[in-house]
Amino acid sequence: MKATRHMKHLASSEFEAWAESYDRSLLNHFLFRPSYLAFIEEIVRWRGLDGEPFELLDIGCGTGTLAAMLMASSLPVRVVGLDYAESMAVVASRKAAGAHAADRARFTRADSEHLPFADGSFDVVTCSNSFHHYPHQQLCVNEMRRVLRPGGRLMLIDGFRDNVIGWVTFDLIIGAVEKEVHHASWSQFHTYFQEAGFQNIHRRKINILFPLLMTIGTA
Ligand SMILES: C[S@@+](CC[C@H](N)C(=O)[O-])C[C@H]1O[C@@H](n2cnc3c(N)ncnc32)[C@H](O)[C@@H]1O
Repeated sequence: MKATRHMKHLASSEFEAWAESYDRSLLNHFLFRPSYLAFIEEIVRWRGLDGEPFELLDIGCGTGTLAAMLMASSLPVRVVGLDYAESMAVVASRKAAGAHAADRARFTRADSEHLPFADGSFDVVTCSNSFHHYPHQQLCVNEMRRVLRPGGRLMLIDGFRDNVIGWVTFDLIIGAVEKEVHHASWSQFHTYFQEAGFQNIHRRKINILFPLLMTIGTA
Protein backbone atom coordinates (compact mmCIF):
# COMPACT_ATOMS: atom_id res chain seq x y z
CA MET A 1 0.00 0.00 0.00
CA LYS A 2 2.84 2.34 0.89
CA ALA A 3 4.63 1.45 -2.38
CA THR A 4 1.42 2.18 -4.31
CA ARG A 5 1.04 5.62 -2.75
CA HIS A 6 4.71 6.37 -3.36
CA MET A 7 4.52 5.32 -7.03
CA LYS A 8 1.48 7.54 -7.62
CA HIS A 9 3.03 10.41 -5.68
CA LEU A 10 6.18 10.25 -7.82
CA ALA A 11 4.16 10.20 -11.08
CA SER A 12 1.99 13.02 -9.88
CA SER A 13 4.86 15.31 -8.86
CA GLU A 14 6.78 14.58 -12.10
CA PHE A 15 3.85 15.36 -14.40
CA GLU A 16 2.17 18.19 -12.47
CA ALA A 17 5.45 20.10 -12.81
CA TRP A 18 6.08 19.11 -16.44
CA ALA A 19 2.73 20.02 -18.05
CA GLU A 20 3.54 23.56 -19.28
CA SER A 21 6.84 22.61 -20.96
CA TYR A 22 5.90 19.03 -21.93
CA ASP A 23 5.14 19.79 -25.59
CA ARG A 24 8.63 21.28 -26.07
CA SER A 25 10.37 18.16 -24.74
CA LEU A 26 12.66 16.27 -27.12
CA LEU A 27 10.88 13.10 -26.03
CA ASN A 28 7.92 14.29 -28.07
CA HIS A 29 9.90 13.66 -31.26
CA PHE A 30 11.46 10.37 -30.20
CA LEU A 31 8.68 8.63 -28.25
CA PHE A 32 5.36 10.38 -27.95
CA ARG A 33 4.61 11.55 -31.50
CA PRO A 34 5.47 8.16 -33.07
CA SER A 35 3.00 6.61 -30.60
CA TYR A 36 0.17 8.93 -31.67
CA LEU A 37 0.92 8.25 -35.34
CA ALA A 38 0.84 4.49 -34.69
CA PHE A 39 -2.59 4.80 -33.01
CA ILE A 40 -3.99 6.86 -35.87
CA GLU A 41 -2.62 4.41 -38.43
CA GLU A 42 -4.26 1.49 -36.57
CA ILE A 43 -7.59 3.32 -36.19
CA VAL A 44 -7.70 4.31 -39.87
CA ARG A 45 -6.83 0.74 -40.93
CA TRP A 46 -9.60 -0.62 -38.69
CA ARG A 47 -12.43 1.86 -39.19
CA GLY A 48 -11.58 3.75 -42.38
CA LEU A 49 -11.79 7.53 -42.61
CA ASP A 50 -15.51 7.82 -43.33
CA GLY A 51 -17.05 5.10 -41.15
CA GLU A 52 -19.52 5.44 -38.26
CA PRO A 53 -18.81 8.10 -35.60
CA PHE A 54 -17.01 6.64 -32.61
CA GLU A 55 -15.88 7.52 -29.10
CA LEU A 56 -12.31 7.25 -27.90
CA LEU A 57 -10.92 7.39 -24.37
CA ASP A 58 -7.21 8.31 -24.07
CA ILE A 59 -5.87 7.27 -20.66
CA GLY A 60 -2.79 9.10 -19.35
CA CYS A 61 -3.48 11.65 -22.10
CA GLY A 62 -0.83 14.17 -21.02
CA THR A 63 -1.32 17.48 -22.83
CA GLY A 64 -3.92 16.05 -25.21
CA THR A 65 -1.80 15.91 -28.36
CA LEU A 66 -3.40 12.67 -29.59
CA ALA A 67 -6.83 14.33 -29.24
CA ALA A 68 -5.57 17.41 -31.12
CA MET A 69 -4.24 15.23 -33.96
CA LEU A 70 -7.52 13.29 -34.12
CA MET A 71 -9.50 16.54 -34.18
CA ALA A 72 -7.37 17.75 -37.09
CA SER A 73 -7.95 14.49 -39.01
CA SER A 74 -11.14 13.65 -40.85
CA LEU A 75 -11.95 10.76 -38.50
CA PRO A 76 -15.50 11.08 -37.09
CA VAL A 77 -14.36 10.80 -33.49
CA ARG A 78 -15.20 12.31 -30.09
CA VAL A 79 -12.43 12.09 -27.51
CA VAL A 80 -12.30 11.99 -23.74
CA GLY A 81 -8.81 12.40 -22.31
CA LEU A 82 -8.06 11.37 -18.74
CA ASP A 83 -4.95 12.10 -16.70
CA TYR A 84 -3.93 11.75 -13.07
CA ALA A 85 -2.19 15.15 -13.19
CA GLU A 86 -4.62 18.06 -13.02
CA SER A 87 -2.20 20.40 -14.82
CA MET A 88 -1.99 18.01 -17.80
CA ALA A 89 -5.80 17.98 -18.12
CA VAL A 90 -5.80 21.80 -17.89
CA VAL A 91 -3.22 22.21 -20.69
CA ALA A 92 -5.08 19.64 -22.82
CA SER A 93 -8.41 21.48 -22.38
CA ARG A 94 -6.76 24.79 -23.27
CA LYS A 95 -5.29 23.25 -26.43
CA ALA A 96 -8.68 21.84 -27.51
CA ALA A 97 -10.38 25.20 -26.86
CA GLY A 98 -7.68 26.99 -28.90
CA ALA A 99 -8.33 24.62 -31.80
CA HIS A 100 -12.12 25.18 -31.48
CA ALA A 101 -12.47 21.47 -30.74
CA ALA A 102 -13.84 21.69 -27.20
CA ASP A 103 -17.20 20.28 -28.33
CA ARG A 104 -15.48 17.10 -29.57
CA ALA A 105 -12.69 16.70 -27.02
CA ARG A 106 -12.94 16.98 -23.24
CA PHE A 107 -10.48 16.22 -20.48
CA THR A 108 -10.77 15.11 -16.92
CA ARG A 109 -8.55 14.37 -13.93
CA ALA A 110 -8.88 10.76 -12.76
CA ASP A 111 -6.90 7.64 -11.93
CA SER A 112 -6.55 4.83 -14.49
CA GLU A 113 -7.42 2.38 -11.70
CA HIS A 114 -10.92 3.81 -11.25
CA LEU A 115 -12.30 5.04 -14.56
CA PRO A 116 -15.28 7.34 -13.92
CA PHE A 117 -17.36 5.93 -16.77
CA ALA A 118 -20.18 3.41 -17.10
CA ASP A 119 -19.53 -0.04 -18.57
CA GLY A 120 -19.39 -0.05 -22.37
CA SER A 121 -18.99 3.72 -22.87
CA PHE A 122 -16.27 3.75 -25.58
CA ASP A 123 -15.37 2.18 -28.93
CA VAL A 124 -11.61 2.67 -28.55
CA VAL A 125 -9.34 3.05 -25.53
CA THR A 126 -5.79 4.27 -26.10
CA CYS A 127 -2.97 4.56 -23.59
CA SER A 128 0.57 5.58 -24.52
CA ASN A 129 3.76 5.90 -22.50
CA SER A 130 1.81 5.98 -19.24
CA PHE A 131 1.18 2.36 -18.23
CA HIS A 132 4.59 1.88 -16.55
CA HIS A 133 3.45 4.35 -13.85
CA TYR A 134 0.49 2.21 -12.78
CA PRO A 135 1.04 0.23 -9.57
CA HIS A 136 -1.81 -2.21 -10.29
CA GLN A 137 -1.43 -2.93 -13.97
CA GLN A 138 -3.88 -5.84 -14.25
CA LEU A 139 -6.56 -3.81 -12.49
CA CYS A 140 -6.09 -0.98 -15.03
CA VAL A 141 -6.38 -3.32 -18.03
CA ASN A 142 -9.57 -4.75 -16.45
CA GLU A 143 -10.94 -1.21 -16.16
CA MET A 144 -10.03 -0.45 -19.79
CA ARG A 145 -11.91 -3.62 -20.83
CA ARG A 146 -14.93 -2.69 -18.69
CA VAL A 147 -15.48 0.70 -20.36
CA LEU A 148 -15.24 -0.71 -23.90
CA ARG A 149 -18.32 -1.65 -25.92
CA PRO A 150 -18.42 -5.21 -27.32
CA GLY A 151 -16.14 -5.26 -30.37
CA GLY A 152 -14.27 -2.17 -29.17
CA ARG A 153 -10.48 -2.12 -29.07
CA LEU A 154 -7.80 -1.35 -26.53
CA MET A 155 -4.55 -0.03 -28.04
CA LEU A 156 -1.77 0.26 -25.50
CA ILE A 157 1.77 1.47 -26.15
CA ASP A 158 4.66 1.42 -23.72
CA GLY A 159 8.40 0.88 -23.83
CA PHE A 160 9.56 -2.42 -25.38
CA ARG A 161 12.04 -3.78 -22.83
CA ASP A 162 12.63 -7.28 -24.24
CA ASN A 163 15.83 -6.59 -26.16
CA VAL A 164 19.11 -5.03 -25.06
CA ILE A 165 18.35 -1.51 -26.31
CA GLY A 166 14.88 -1.56 -24.73
CA TRP A 167 16.14 -3.01 -21.47
CA VAL A 168 18.89 -0.38 -21.16
CA THR A 169 16.53 2.45 -22.14
CA PHE A 170 13.46 1.56 -20.13
CA ASP A 171 14.57 -0.65 -17.25
CA LEU A 172 17.92 1.00 -16.56
CA ILE A 173 17.74 4.64 -17.70
CA ILE A 174 14.02 5.52 -17.43
CA GLY A 175 13.80 3.32 -14.31
CA ALA A 176 16.62 5.32 -12.69
CA VAL A 177 15.16 8.70 -13.71
CA GLU A 178 11.51 8.04 -12.90
CA LYS A 179 12.28 5.74 -9.93
CA GLU A 180 9.27 3.54 -9.21
CA VAL A 181 8.02 2.42 -12.60
CA HIS A 182 7.47 -0.99 -14.15
CA HIS A 183 7.75 -1.67 -17.89
CA ALA A 184 5.79 -4.86 -18.55
CA SER A 185 7.32 -7.46 -20.85
CA TRP A 186 5.96 -8.74 -24.18
CA SER A 187 4.50 -11.83 -22.44
CA GLN A 188 3.16 -9.89 -19.42
CA PHE A 189 1.10 -7.70 -21.74
CA HIS A 190 -0.42 -10.79 -23.33
CA THR A 191 -1.33 -12.17 -19.90
CA TYR A 192 -2.87 -8.85 -18.76
CA PHE A 193 -5.06 -8.68 -21.87
CA GLN A 194 -6.04 -12.35 -21.67
CA GLU A 195 -6.94 -12.12 -17.96
CA ALA A 196 -9.10 -9.06 -18.69
CA GLY A 197 -11.04 -11.06 -21.29
CA PHE A 198 -9.72 -9.53 -24.52
CA GLN A 199 -9.85 -11.51 -27.79
CA ASN A 200 -7.63 -11.34 -30.91
CA ILE A 201 -4.68 -10.08 -28.90
CA HIS A 202 -1.75 -9.03 -31.02
CA ARG A 203 1.41 -7.14 -30.35
CA ARG A 204 3.90 -5.36 -32.53
CA LYS A 205 7.23 -3.73 -31.92
CA ILE A 206 7.53 -0.16 -33.20
CA ASN A 207 11.09 0.40 -34.29
CA ILE A 208 12.11 3.97 -33.69
CA LEU A 209 15.21 5.23 -31.90
CA PHE A 210 13.84 3.64 -28.70
CA PRO A 211 11.68 0.56 -29.34
CA LEU A 212 8.02 0.67 -28.31
CA LEU A 213 5.51 -2.14 -27.91
CA MET A 214 1.91 -1.81 -29.06
CA THR A 215 -0.60 -4.35 -27.74
CA ILE A 216 -4.11 -4.49 -29.20
CA GLY A 217 -7.08 -6.51 -28.00
CA THR A 218 -10.76 -6.68 -28.92
CA ALA A 219 -13.45 -6.52 -26.22
C1 LIG B 1 4.86 10.31 -20.33
S1 LIG B 1 3.23 10.93 -20.15
C2 LIG B 1 2.45 10.30 -21.61
C3 LIG B 1 1.41 11.24 -22.14
C4 LIG B 1 0.85 10.86 -23.51
N1 LIG B 1 0.02 9.68 -23.46
C5 LIG B 1 1.98 10.67 -24.48
O1 LIG B 1 2.17 9.55 -25.02
O2 LIG B 1 2.70 11.68 -24.69
C6 LIG B 1 2.51 9.91 -18.90
C7 LIG B 1 1.16 10.46 -18.41
O3 LIG B 1 0.52 9.47 -17.61
C8 LIG B 1 -0.14 10.12 -16.54
N2 LIG B 1 -0.38 9.18 -15.44
C9 LIG B 1 0.51 8.63 -14.59
N3 LIG B 1 -0.12 7.82 -13.70
C10 LIG B 1 -1.44 7.85 -14.03
C11 LIG B 1 -2.60 7.22 -13.49
N4 LIG B 1 -2.54 6.41 -12.44
N5 LIG B 1 -3.80 7.48 -14.07
C12 LIG B 1 -3.88 8.32 -15.15
N6 LIG B 1 -2.82 8.95 -15.69
C13 LIG B 1 -1.61 8.71 -15.14
C14 LIG B 1 0.84 11.23 -16.16
O4 LIG B 1 0.23 12.25 -15.38
C15 LIG B 1 1.32 11.70 -17.53
O5 LIG B 1 0.54 12.76 -18.05
